[in-house]
Amino acid sequence: MMKVNRRDFLKVGGALGAASAMTPVMMASASEADISSLPRVKQELVAPPFVPAHDQVATGGPKIIEVELSPVEDKRAIDGDGTMYNTLSFNGSIPGPLMICHEGDYIELTLKNPASNIFEHNIDFHASTGALGGGALTHVQPGEQVMLRYKATKPGTYIYHCAPGGSMIPYHVVSGMNGAVMVLPRDGLKDRQGNPLRYDRAYYIGEQDFYVPRDAEGNFMEYEEHADAMADVFDVMHTLTPSHVVFNGAAGALTGDNAMTANVGESVLFIHSQANRDSRPHLIGGHGDYVWEEGSFVDPPLEGLETWFIRGGSAGAALYTFRQPGAYVYLSHNLIEAVELGALAIVVVEGEWNHDLMTQVQPPTIMTA
Ligand code: CU
Repeated sequence: MMKVNRRDFLKVGGALGAASAMTPVMMASASEADISSLPRVKQELVAPPFVPAHDQVATGGPKIIEVELSPVEDKRAIDGDGTMYNTLSFNGSIPGPLMICHEGDYIELTLKNPASNIFEHNIDFHASTGALGGGALTHVQPGEQVMLRYKATKPGTYIYHCAPGGSMIPYHVVSGMNGAVMVLPRDGLKDRQGNPLRYDRAYYIGEQDFYVPRDAEGNFMEYEEHADAMADVFDVMHTLTPSHVVFNGAAGALTGDNAMTANVGESVLFIHSQANRDSRPHLIGGHGDYVWEEGSFVDPPLEGLETWFIRGGSAGAALYTFRQPGAYVYLSHNLIEAVELGALAIVVVEGEWNHDLMTQVQPPTIMTA
């Protein structure tokens, strides 16, 4: 199998390629805290839309949260038509798993790149500080592993993504190598008056743009290996026009039996990330009661939003308390991207209908006048 090195793809990498190839000088400093006595907690990461078990309000002091990621290079169906695409991912899920900690905790990542892979990978945590978000310290060739620890100093929702250098940065990100970290305030989420906000469930929706080449007849093409697909995929990427925009790795991934669920009266936190393009999450039939649109939990949440905006390269969070049962559509309110390209999910809510909030006064009937 062909080994692909980032140095082969630095032709347009310029400063980013050069920067990520630098090895920063690591010097002991007076600011290095003694964290040897901090408790260690292993966080079992789970495939989105599910989130790892966590406390909304921190108990005790700062902890070291141990997590493990492993890049997966494979090929999978990304829509209901069976379109096959060569994907890259963290731990096999697109997006990669959500990590959760509290402000002041440390995240300690072990990144293991299996020897069977062909690519070099690394990780840039937008929640971290320094060394290209850890990207400069985490390059691993196939068969290598690396450990990185960073302090989560800013509460909010942040993406992470692979950034091996040059053209491989967008290629790995739009092949699926992105995920999110939620850094909760130690005393939990709050409204603008400082009152506590709690959720009964949380879901993580990772939006992904894919760029599948087409043949002369307009049919999507399938390639055996990344190395075969790459040149054609770059041609599509350079149009800036995705063939697919999906939630959680494939069109329909969060519908049918895999729809998200909730009950009337429950508050649900929806964390939404887009590592590469802008998005406009909207809950048809509901609202964003409290929305941290730009992801920072230091800022007070916006209230009562109809649609919110997730900037490419960021994650945000929206809290909604369901008041009515039924099927809700959670989508990107670029409706072409939602309905035609796949950026659409379903939330099935059970409970009692509230006729005061809505009632069908007259069902569809033949007009009388
Ligand atoms: Cu990668």
